[in-house]
Amino acid sequence: MQIHSSISDTRAALKNRQRIVFVPTMGNLHEGHIALMRQAHAHGDTVVASIFVNRLQFGPNEDFDKYPRTFADDCEKLREAGVAVLFAPTEADLYPEPQQYLVDPPDIQNLLEGEFRPGHFRGVATVVLKLFNIVQPQVAILGKKDYQQLMILRNMTRQLALPVEIVGGETVRAEDGLALSSRNGYLTPDERNEAPRLNRELRRIRDAIRAGDRDYTRLEREAIAELDGHGWKTDYVAVRRQADLLAPSGGDEALVVLAASRLGTPRLIDNVEI
Ligand code: PAJ
Repeated sequence: MQIHSSISDTRAALKNRQRIVFVPTMGNLHEGHIALMRQAHAHGDTVVASIFVNRLQFGPNEDFDKYPRTFADDCEKLREAGVAVLFAPTEADLYPEPQQYLVDPPDIQNLLEGEFRPGHFRGVATVVLKLFNIVQPQVAILGKKDYQQLMILRNMTRQLALPVEIVGGETVRAEDGLALSSRNGYLTPDERNEAPRLNRELRRIRDAIRAGDRDYTRLEREAIAELDGHGWKTDYVAVRRQADLLAPSGGDEALVVLAASRLGTPRLIDNVEI
């Protein structure tokens, strides 16, 4: 595996490559990330990963400084997963001057995650567009774990006519249902035992809706009460349309239930399609 930190070296390494499949990450890689790398091989010849903890997408009181950085381990995992090129820039490589040209996504950036993390998706969209311009992939793989992020990046790619196909990867979970996340490492052992409740509540809502329950507000309220009754501090549990993440309008549209809640230090997110 080649490892490059500069934009020009990365471009040179990728020149003349056939079909590039790209998986952007912030490192501290777990089986969820690695599953995306494996999936990538089915979509092209050259699998490229990036590791960059993007300050632009963190709020002032978020965990940018504490975000786990495990570069040597990450490289080992990427090598095993058959990644050909890793782009791992420093901040000076990627933002040599203040990033003043920003991608400002439409209103969808202010829903759900955006309500609790103002500016987050602007930071995500900006860095991903920049990474796409450097790597110039034909395909990019993004996890459904970050459902709103996937949707925003898919819409950005379509509206800006970027020559990239966006592929969604299924969420990889621990056996007890907890979605794998770099932030799970912040959980104490007791919190780790409690953590699967988030996914259980989402599945409970899914099952209720499948069984014909249409009182979404009550289902959301019950899940929040259940979580907060067990020590969580819930930002939202929301039943939304898969197509645009707006509230259901009553038809037989495809739905997704999404949640974000804090358990101890980490804020965990999850979602289940219905
Ligand atoms: P990061 O949180 O490192 O995630 C990198 C990719 O892995 C994202 O597409 C995310 O959805 C996916 N992922 C995370 N956990 C997963 C799981 N349990 N199962 C499947 N896929 C999972 O998301 C980001 O980084 C950043 O916002 C980024 C897109 C790199 C821009 O900075």
